[in-house]
Amino acid sequence: MSYGKTLTETIASPEEVAKNVARLRLVGANGPEGGVNAKYPAYLPVWEKTKLPDWEEVPYVDPGTRATPDKRNLFVPGSKHREMTPAIGEEIWGVQLSHLSKEGLDDLALLAAERGLLIFRDQDFKDIGPERQLDTVRHFGRLHIHPTMGHPEGYPEMHVVYRDPKDSTIARYTKPNEVSSVSSVNWHVDHTAEVQPPGITFFFGLEVPASGGDTLFVSATEAYNRLSDEFKTRLEGLQVVHDNTDMLTHSASLGGPCRFSPQKRNHPLIRTHPVTKQKILSIHQAHARRIFGYKKEESEYLFNFLNDVLVKGGDFQTRAHYEPGTVVVWDNRVVAHTATYDFKAAHVAGDERRHMVRIAAMADVPV
Ligand SMILES: [Fe+2]
Repeated sequence: MSYGKTLTETIASPEEVAKNVARLRLVGANGPEGGVNAKYPAYLPVWEKTKLPDWEEVPYVDPGTRATPDKRNLFVPGSKHREMTPAIGEEIWGVQLSHLSKEGLDDLALLAAERGLLIFRDQDFKDIGPERQLDTVRHFGRLHIHPTMGHPEGYPEMHVVYRDPKDSTIARYTKPNEVSSVSSVNWHVDHTAEVQPPGITFFFGLEVPASGGDTLFVSATEAYNRLSDEFKTRLEGLQVVHDNTDMLTHSASLGGPCRFSPQKRNHPLIRTHPVTKQKILSIHQAHARRIFGYKKEESEYLFNFLNDVLVKGGDFQTRAHYEPGTVVVWDNRVVAHTATYDFKAAHVAGDERRHMVRIAAMADVPV
């Protein structure tokens, strides 16, 4: 179903929104004093709290199944591309996402499934307007709506990440004596507690820092490949419990949105990509909680080991740096990722800001 613009008819009162924005600064959202000099004010987040019907399972045909093996509709004449590392990542120049045909988008889906991460440089995507931005990603499936975070007014399918010098989030990681953690690295896969978690995901910058603010990526396909055949056999058939209740409870405790019911369900530990047929180690430390049916200690032992395989796999990881005009696309089924809160803001003089938009298409039920 399409939620469209009717959502804005039921947003909270301005007083309520202001109150919630102020409280949500506790989790790093821009507050009333934030966003003053933003170049794209229409994309600043609002925190409306409309309750939406939970997602129901729908048939999904992966666009990658219609792709050409040589990606001739994506790699148009004059374009160039390079492998970022042998296991993950492709950097692409000379392809304008806003001009791609449906066949080109199909080829993109296959390439993302194969390479995990695609970095498109020199795009006009951030300036084509929200309707075309959403329509582009809608080619890959129903658009996901974040259960708790802010979005541009009228466009709940966009998840906005906004940090500026008024924001305190970065200082939590970098300011001496005020750190809550030694690092901001937090490997995860997006929204795996959903019945059909996101697959193709677009992430682009409206304003990006000159240095820092990169996203790190790791290939969960290669993580699986690195295991021994004997060990792989033992993992077959295991299920992981995914649960996003904490995210909703946290948002509720701050007076923030809880747009959907808490989601808790099992998905396979080893899933198979519907297009490439490659097996994927589907585990991470966000909404994936434990191995189903295992006792606590058993689950922690196996879970932590497998998570270590991912996060320590520097030889199948890479990072995306955002230049002005960069659009990053990943297949959320085959990679895990983490933000890095390392750019200059909040704790130093300057006016660097990072204003990003994520649009994600929900894919198949994991099998
Ligand atoms: Fe994420």
